[in-house]
Amino acid sequence: MTGVLITRCVCRNFPFDELLPLVRSRQWVLEDVVSQTGCGDECGLCRPYLRAMIDTGQTEFHHLLPADPTHSEATDL
Ligand code: FES
Repeated sequence: MTGVLITRCVCRNFPFDELLPLVRSRQWVLEDVVSQTGCGDECGLCRPYLRAMIDTGQTEFHHLLPADPTHSEATDL
């Protein structure tokens, strides 16, 4: 256990386990999540987790993922 637990978009206070049913029922891709919820549109640090959630259905992450290269603010960190 690393002590890391990432379960939400912090900027929008939106839990991944509440986002996933929306993603599945509406067949959203990452760009849809961003435009419809605002998640991933502020600091962008949740983008790699959103992308992984969409791909795998995982809603809890115990490891840090690399910043998403499609979001410039995240790559400046
Ligand atoms: S944590 Fe999702 S945009 Fe900042």
